[in-house]
Amino acid sequence: MNTNQDSNFRNLQICERVKKVAAFSNLNEADCTHLLDPGSLDSSLANYMIENVIGTFQLPLGVALNFLINGKEYLIPMVLEEASVVAAASNAAKMARAAEGFLTDYSGDTMIAQIQCCNLENPHFARHAILRHKDEIIECANEKDPVLIGLGGGVRDVEVRVVESQVGRMVVTHLLVDTMDAMGANTVNTMAEAVAPLIENITGGTVKLRILSNLADRRLARASAIFRKDTIGGEAVVDGILSAHAFASADPYRAATSNKGVMNGVDPIIVATGNDWRAVEAGVHAYCARNGRYTTLTQWEKTKDGDLVGSIELPMPVGLVGGATKTNPLAGVCLKILKVESAAELAQVIAAVGLAQNFAALRALATEGIQSGHMKLHARNIAAAAGVPENQIDRVVKEMISSKSITMEKAKELVDSLL
Ligand code: MEV
Repeated sequence: MNTNQDSNFRNLQICERVKKVAAFSNLNEADCTHLLDPGSLDSSLANYMIENVIGTFQLPLGVALNFLINGKEYLIPMVLEEASVVAAASNAAKMARAAEGFLTDYSGDTMIAQIQCCNLENPHFARHAILRHKDEIIECANEKDPVLIGLGGGVRDVEVRVVESQVGRMVVTHLLVDTMDAMGANTVNTMAEAVAPLIENITGGTVKLRILSNLADRRLARASAIFRKDTIGGEAVVDGILSAHAFASADPYRAATSNKGVMNGVDPIIVATGNDWRAVEAGVHAYCARNGRYTTLTQWEKTKDGDLVGSIELPMPVGLVGGATKTNPLAGVCLKILKVESAAELAQVIAAVGLAQNFAALRALATEGIQSGHMKLHARNIAAAAGVPENQIDRVVKEMISSKSITMEKAKELVDSLL
């Protein structure tokens, strides 16, 4: 197989593609069996989702417990490979519910589509011209999605900016579209393409890019929670978390890691519900840098009673309809587990879990450090990777923990001594 020239690859049956990949990459029979193992997402279904499919890729799916959000109980499905994340979220949620759990809010389902217009003599004059034709532009865009309009969504407003760039000034029109329960990428991209000729007619300029913005700052999810000092280990823990937070607020190197901890809670739900985690990641990190310096997604403060209060605000463009949310059967099951009734509710649940995850990481870091707890939970992973037989894993894990040596070598040594 020549990876450069195999134009027929995409037309092959999946098993034929696997044969070609196996020959190129020296895969053995067991490798091919793994590739063709269907799991819950049948390969033939996967074949409709992306191109050149050779199998499906499975990850663990766990549920985090104890989440009380706006007075409602939730089970949180999480798909990820990292040990201790699900346990940490559950533990943090348990501590939050000792007060009132999580309280959340949402700014609305508004996505932004951008239309870039160049070659304009008078960009500010063009901007005003576009704004004068706002109603016409909205009507033209809305014609593209009668279903969304029927459900009460559609373009809510038009905003226009003059952007200075390396190639001169350009006029960028934003369509603000209420996409309701859809993430809405296809809808807003279609609308952006539809209004492009109109914008050229209005301005006399040349439209170039027509695409959504992943900086979904009109689709913000917010969550907050009180963690009582007596529940979380006392005043010293509260102060330790505040100091950790101050570090992250001041230093982008630490902020990136702190936000990674938040995304440990966010991404696994995005994946579990079939949503676009790249879109969420892009939006979240752009939002963190919106004031010109990258900083944290969360805020931590102390109440007058000495309790800790956390809050988070982040762009959350997620949907319940369309895309993999419908094609991947497990995404449907995860949405049922969550019992959410709207994309707005899903977004708020995700924000609460992100906050919980950040709390758990900061509490561990501000006290004993994360490694001892993490390694205990990671020990099973290490034992499995070291080839310990399933019926010996519990014994080997127990031994590794009590000997404080959680390594592959130790797991192998223990299994040899046990056999
Ligand atoms: C590890 O996956 C996440 C943490 O690094 C987050 C943090 O440092 O806040 C523990």
